[in-house]
Amino acid sequence: MPASFPKGFRWGASSSAFQIEGGWDEGGKGPSVADHNAFKRSDRQADTKVASDLYHRWRGDVALMKELGLGMYRFSIAWTRIVPDGDGEVSEEGVAFYDALIDELLAAGIEPWVTLYHFDLPWALVERYGGWADRRCVDAFDRYARICFERFGDRVKHWQTINEQNLMVRVDERMNIAASDPLEADRLRAQMDYHMSLAHARATRSCHELVEGGLVGPAISSTCTYPLTPKPEDVWAARSNDYLKTLYNLDMCQYGAYSGFYMDYLEKRGIVPVMLPEDAETLRHGKMDYLALNYYRTLCASYLPVDDEHPLGSRAFRGNEVDFDQYGWCRDERNPSLEASEYGAQIDPMGLRIVLDEYYARYRVPIIITENGLGAPDELTADGRVHDDYRIDYLRAHVGACRDAMRDGVELMGYSPWSVMDLLSSHQGFRKRYGFIYVDRGEHDLRSLERVRKDSFFWYQNVIRTNGAEL
Ligand code: BG6
Repeated sequence: MPASFPKGFRWGASSSAFQIEGGWDEGGKGPSVADHNAFKRSDRQADTKVASDLYHRWRGDVALMKELGLGMYRFSIAWTRIVPDGDGEVSEEGVAFYDALIDELLAAGIEPWVTLYHFDLPWALVERYGGWADRRCVDAFDRYARICFERFGDRVKHWQTINEQNLMVRVDERMNIAASDPLEADRLRAQMDYHMSLAHARATRSCHELVEGGLVGPAISSTCTYPLTPKPEDVWAARSNDYLKTLYNLDMCQYGAYSGFYMDYLEKRGIVPVMLPEDAETLRHGKMDYLALNYYRTLCASYLPVDDEHPLGSRAFRGNEVDFDQYGWCRDERNPSLEASEYGAQIDPMGLRIVLDEYYARYRVPIIITENGLGAPDELTADGRVHDDYRIDYLRAHVGACRDAMRDGVELMGYSPWSVMDLLSSHQGFRKRYGFIYVDRGEHDLRSLERVRKDSFFWYQNVIRTNGAEL
């Protein structure tokens, strides 16, 4: 097949600060929500203290990225390295760390694509304000974003504001939602979500003001929900799942207001957040320059009418069932047409093409894939290698889907899978790995922390070298 990716197509790989850096309290860094949540599980799995130890090994790691041939590296800055307590003093040591990393990447010919906030809200903001429940958190985020734009914006031109706001907001632990009453929890959730949208819009405006030629967008957890059957009710349930889990958030970014279906949900549930009249002007600035898209798998749903067993509000907007009030319910189903991989997840490259086509048609902005990958318990074999052919199969099929979507007309800027090297998975520590590079460590046994190139490393190296002509 001839080279089918345009010249300039970006081949990258991704990570996030709390999952890869370690050095959680070094260099003046303050604790984050991600640290706190990981420490709750320290007895059972690896936490953020060492993670992949990039904090101490970044020079060697950038050299490996260069060897891999990356044209871009998507990573996040830890807010608590730059402003340890969230909205106080700036840590020059933290700034210096990212300064050096960015310079090293650029010297290696790798463009830094930076996420400002990847699940790691400063813990001090939770203690001080209750986190995103309070508007002062929006001010703190914009201030932190402006510091990053001022300090790094001469070299970093592509920014993502918040990673997976639409998914994060549904995870109580990540939001510090402790309310036991589901309605109260959802009221808080809606308010926090709205504040994060304001934060996104303000940071977007700040980026345009402070970064010459700077481009910025949200990083979304994409969803593509198939109806279990062609029954109109099932089709509606599937659509509603995508509306209420994802599109409501992207619509807010792009159009500066919630769409009717989401306002309707908020009103019927009685959880409309406090919105000030002047917010409308701020929210207009959230328009995406590009969309950073994370894709792993698709969903499947059926319609479940409201009945005694599923009374309004029992598990609204959480868990496996989404309460749509009088619209009925949407129930997550296993897709009978897809096979689960050996490791559980249903693999669906066509879903990626569908998502890319749909989001591009709806928003008409360039898209970059900032996460896509297969988590598996990789093993270092006696020959000193990691034979992850299952990952190669997964990635090959998804890169093919990117090519198809581009033929469909999608403006795809690049492909940056998860993850550049093994890193901390939220609920499975290092038992589930995604990287091109194996990190020699166990859950608690740090072993050598040595880096080992997996088979997928050599495969991806060739994909990059041939600009996708050889998959
Ligand atoms: C994405 C997150 O949702 O999924 C990443 O942005 C995360 O931070 C990735 O690591 C994979 O999820 P998990 O739970 O397998 O690590």
